[in-house]
Amino acid sequence: MYRIAPSILSADFAALGNEVRAVIDAGADWIHFDVMDNHYVPNLTIGPAVAAAIKPHCVTSDGKPVPLDVHLMVQPVDALAVAFAKAGADLITFHPDAETHVDRTLQLIRDQGCQAGLVFNPAMPLDILEWVIDKVDIVLLMSVNPGFGGQSFIDSTYKKIEVARKIIDQTGRDIRLEVDGGIKVDNIAKVAAAGADTFVAGSAIFNEPDYAAVIDAMRANMANV
Ligand code: DX5
Ligand code: ZN
Repeated sequence: MYRIAPSILSADFAALGNEVRAVIDAGADWIHFDVMDNHYVPNLTIGPAVAAAIKPHCVTSDGKPVPLDVHLMVQPVDALAVAFAKAGADLITFHPDAETHVDRTLQLIRDQGCQAGLVFNPAMPLDILEWVIDKVDIVLLMSVNPGFGGQSFIDSTYKKIEVARKIIDQTGRDIRLEVDGGIKVDNIAKVAAAGADTFVAGSAIFNEPDYAAVIDAMRANMANV
């Protein structure tokens, strides 16, 4: 089952609650929440207070909860991971190069009752997955260098998705393979064909007037993968 996770990084920050509701009404499966600290990445975004404020809006019009997918681009990770768990995150992903004791951080996130994931930048190898895969619920591959919305998809990601897909399939576990950055209506099918099942899209959705039209077009393009 494919999941589309709009990144609210490209939403109207002055109207975030309404934006979250609008994109859920338009068919979003998850809400992707990009946390940047002006240290791990050269940009500064939103913190746990904003996550707590939008959490009540993460629900469909018929009352079904929509997971809040928190992508931590911060260093160090642990204290903020706990803060976001308490703020209502359902999934928390972090960059393994941003924390010294990756295994411990994965366990910490799970102990908070959240699903835990690792994020791999375009130049990062997947090697460490072998040693912690039993504590991983999500693998998130960056298809841009983190820090900004609206960048172009880096083509080497296709090959990396294929490699990650094999690693995940060998576990036999239900681990999601999410891809983040530069995903548009016209490349999402290729990303899915490579083996991804969860798709972050910020500018492709929020820079268009009709969010449902974009999400519908994405699903239509993936229908025959
Ligand atoms: C980049 C963020 C992405 C970003 C995606 O550092 O992690 O989630 O918002 O934006 P688009 O879809 O515009 O590339
Ligand atoms: Zn992200």
